[in-house]
Amino acid sequence: MKIAVLPGDGIGPEIVEQAVKVLKALGESFELEFAPVGGAGYEASGHPLPESTLKLALDADAVLFGSVGDWKYDNLERALRPEQAILGLRKNLNLFANFRPAILYPELAGASTLKSEVVSGLDILIIRELTGDIYFGQPRGVRECPDGPFKGQREGFDTMRYAEGEVRRIAHVAFQAAQKRSKRLTSVDKANVLETFQFWKDIVIDVHKEYPDVALDHMYVDNAAMQLVRAPKKFDVIVTGNMFGDILSDAAAMLTGSIGMLPSASLDANNKGLYEPSHGSAPDIAGKGIANPLATILSAAMMLRYSLKMEAHADRIENAVKSVLAKGLRTPDIFEDGCTKVGTAEMGDAVVSALV
Ligand code: IPM
Ligand code: MG
Repeated sequence: MKIAVLPGDGIGPEIVEQAVKVLKALGESFELEFAPVGGAGYEASGHPLPESTLKLALDADAVLFGSVGDWKYDNLERALRPEQAILGLRKNLNLFANFRPAILYPELAGASTLKSEVVSGLDILIIRELTGDIYFGQPRGVRECPDGPFKGQREGFDTMRYAEGEVRRIAHVAFQAAQKRSKRLTSVDKANVLETFQFWKDIVIDVHKEYPDVALDHMYVDNAAMQLVRAPKKFDVIVTGNMFGDILSDAAAMLTGSIGMLPSASLDANNKGLYEPSHGSAPDIAGKGIANPLATILSAAMMLRYSLKMEAHADRIENAVKSVLAKGLRTPDIFEDGCTKVGTAEMGDAVVSALV
């Protein structure tokens, strides 16, 4: 099994190092090949997604990704900014299905900013379409405003769009995921305002005919944002577009107390995938040895489960994470009185020792 390891920027290298430690402790012979990406890719070869890095990712069985981005690249032209690396990988590898689970570990109920009765036992799954929508729609840019009160001025514009096949394939993924859970699916749209999302909704309703055992409902994105903080446990599986999924998944992540806990998987049609923590590169704490590596370690577990078909090893890692939390070990982002504060590497070591 060949795994492309792309640590990236900010806290990326520190947290990926811990996940690699855990992978190496499983007793399998993975072939791990490292390559620079994001700001690190730009420094190494003048592009955030160097050709050799893309080739490695295309050839590998799975990609383990850290995080990209740093303020120091904010003034580069858009095509050279670190974020383009992850967008380029998603597009080139056809990773259209993004799984973002938000699970509240019972030990961390106090870490949430919401009352514990609202979030305790939370276990929801956001499925975000990842290669369409306004993120990739053309045309886009800055042009002269053609009409209206601002005619003649410059205007910025992007294109929101979804092809039928794009909506169908993510809808199938979502219905199948719901079938494996509580058989409830909420499709989030903005059909009251946007053509693209009325179309989305119509297609989802059509695909639903093939999954009569799943209960489908529809919710506008603004209401979904409100319900996520009001009564998040009412949701089970949520499916939505690229832009809404970006926003809702950050909100859902925070329900669990720490975005530092949440893994994610981005899959193609054959379950080849890229695995990354749901959080970003946190340049403000990079290099300090305090970042929480658990989201990345849990991303490695998802990689074993979805792409490498090593379910038992995935369980081992997830159980080890539960056990270090039960022992009271906490990085600063999830620290509470009475617990033991540990750094990034100590947390990684603790997970390794807890593997059974
Ligand atoms: C995410 C991130 C990315 C996105 C950025 C880094 C391009 O916010 O994975 O949610 O917007 O998709
Ligand atoms: Mg985001």
